[in-house]
Amino acid sequence: MNSALLSAFVAFAISLAVVASPALEGAGVSTRTLKSLKKSAFDGNYLPATPAANISFCNITVIYTHQNWNDQITLTINLPLTGWNGRFVATGGGGLITGPTLPALEAGVYHGYATAGTDGGHAGFSASWILEETGLLNYPLFVDFASESLKDMVVLGKQVAESYYSETTKYTYWAGCSTGGRQGHMMAQRYSDLFDGILANSPAINWNELQMASMWPQVVMYENQSVPPECVMEAYTNATIKACDGLDGLVDGIISAPGLCKFDTYSLVGQTIDCGGTEVKITNDYAYVIEQFLQGPHLSNGTRLWYGVNPGTDFTGLAGTSCTGTATNCTIVGASLSQEWVSYFLELNPSYNAMTVGYSAYNSLWTQTKQWYDWIIETANTDLRHLKQTNTKLMAFHGLADPAIFPNGTINFYQNVLAVDPHAADYFRFFEAPGVQHCGGGNGAQPSNMFNSLVDWVEKGIAPSQIPAETTPLANGTYTSRPLCLYPLVSAYIGGDPTKASSYRCQGSFNK
Ligand SMILES: *[C@@H]1O[C@H](CO)[C@@H](O)[C@H](O)[C@H]1NC(C)=O
Ligand SMILES: *[C@@H]1O[C@H](CO)[C@@H](O)[C@H](O)[C@H]1NC(C)=O
Ligand SMILES: *[C@@H]1O[C@H](CO)[C@@H](O)[C@H](O)[C@H]1NC(C)=O
Ligand SMILES: *[C@@H]1O[C@H](CO)[C@@H](O)[C@H](O)[C@H]1NC(C)=O
Ligand SMILES: *[C@@H]1O[C@H](CO)[C@@H](O)[C@H](O)[C@H]1NC(C)=O
Ligand SMILES: *[C@@H]1O[C@H](CO)[C@@H](O)[C@H](O)[C@H]1NC(C)=O
Ligand SMILES: *[C@@H]1O[C@H](CO)[C@@H](O)[C@H](O)[C@H]1NC(C)=O
Ligand SMILES: *[C@@H]1O[C@H](CO)[C@@H](O)[C@H](O)[C@H]1NC(C)=O
Repeated sequence: MNSALLSAFVAFAISLAVVASPALEGAGVSTRTLKSLKKSAFDGNYLPATPAANISFCNITVIYTHQNWNDQITLTINLPLTGWNGRFVATGGGGLITGPTLPALEAGVYHGYATAGTDGGHAGFSASWILEETGLLNYPLFVDFASESLKDMVVLGKQVAESYYSETTKYTYWAGCSTGGRQGHMMAQRYSDLFDGILANSPAINWNELQMASMWPQVVMYENQSVPPECVMEAYTNATIKACDGLDGLVDGIISAPGLCKFDTYSLVGQTIDCGGTEVKITNDYAYVIEQFLQGPHLSNGTRLWYGVNPGTDFTGLAGTSCTGTATNCTIVGASLSQEWVSYFLELNPSYNAMTVGYSAYNSLWTQTKQWYDWIIETANTDLRHLKQTNTKLMAFHGLADPAIFPNGTINFYQNVLAVDPHAADYFRFFEAPGVQHCGGGNGAQPSNMFNSLVDWVEKGIAPSQIPAETTPLANGTYTSRPLCLYPLVSAYIGGDPTKASSYRCQGSFNK
């Protein structure tokens, strides 16, 4: 189709929508060379491996605004030129980026899906977009990031795709991880009528707790005036895995039962670590702050505010430090997204120094973020019974060694969903992935084709009681396959070759 024709049909399509001033920014056939893509983090593990390939597709960009919101949103829609499989997939973003995640779009196109992603009206990783020149918060852009532009993407994107193909969409999906996972849960919580299936992995739900809890390590280091070098943290991670690996009945380099792991951080005090040539002695203060990373934020009377980092997880995602000169002359790096959250969204002041937040300021910021923003972005509604009415299937996994988003927040969410409706697994299925990091990576087995499990559930009624997962292949090409099990079941080793999925069974507890 030439550009003029595309313009005409897009103008027609978006005139149906509830947005103002839509304009076709660009439409035409794009070609692109895909890199081989295997379980890339932010595609949400949504498709099987995509080989290196040259693809050509219809690339449509729609720019629109919401009347009186003064926003300008760029929506990207990529359509296979031939062989559309009748499915539309909306994809999410990461961090403070609404999207689009181009590899996720392009992989979808390769596999025959019509795909869409939106920028939500802002670009770039920095939070600067949220403040207007007046210093006031740009609420429309915030709501676009949290929910509105995501819903638009589905409404508008499907109209464009259906005009292009002169066919209606058979099935509508969401695929995302991290922020994309939170966005998927937002779709499930507020707009499930738009979707047949939603894949929403390692989700940044419980957004306000997440931002504050991610800051806890830096607050502890600041208050204790003790800043361990990262090599000390790594020594702790290694020692913890060594101590707790076998508690699940199999020594495989990962902790599958973090709840059984009680590692005493003081047990390493006095040991010497080789930090790139410098010997560093583990002190009592180091043991204290690392114990706090694991415990997670709490009030001085012991009341838990949120979860900590699971034992055996890399600490440096949230508790990073940087050392100069001697390996013990270290400063806090911490979690940059949380620091921006505090400066821009809570203090409304880009020059606010979030590195000097101590316990007292921390507790007030916690209250403030809940009061100001739960209604916009918390994404923690645990009553999902409407998914039954809208016939929407929701799936999620969370890596138990996720160094960026606390897996226990997602586990707790699922437990609460089941508490509201003991039959919630009829429409929402959650899977733990031991040893897996944020959206993928790590030593554990990662879902290899989770999106297809969702498609089979939606389209064939095959409800997944387990999903296939594989570790990243070693240099010699070998890898481990094992199933991930529908929570609360665990993937227990039952004997045989530990690299084969048949050596595991989904059951209530581990064999020890
Ligand atoms: C798709 O179109 C947009 C806007 O016209 C452009 O920025 C982008 O580079 C195109 N994508 C590809 C893969 O050609
Ligand atoms: C893609 O096209 C380029 C340029 O024609 C070519 O050099 C390359 O080998 C192609 N890649 C694949 C995977 O087909
Ligand atoms: C840091 O924590 C350790 C262990 O609790 C304690 O002995 C030390 O006094 C603390 N340091 C500061 C500055 O609070
Ligand atoms: C931790 O274990 C990894 C993997 O075995 C190893 O490369 C690293 O050197 C260890 N680090 C420390 C500080 O022991
Ligand atoms: C966190 O989740 C793991 C995995 O399900 C569980 O073993 C552990 O007990 C949980 N920890 C907390 C503090 O809830
Ligand atoms: C701890 O303090 C909080 C806030 O003041 C209060 O709500 C909670 O009940 C206290 N918990 C205990 C165990 O004293
Ligand atoms: C410690 O690091 C600071 C910068 O972070 C540097 O100015 C100082 O010289 C360093 N001190 C030593 C003893 O290396
Ligand atoms: C591949 O490498 C791993 C780790 O070094 C080793 O345990 C395994 O035996 C190797 N497998 C083959 C088939 O060479």
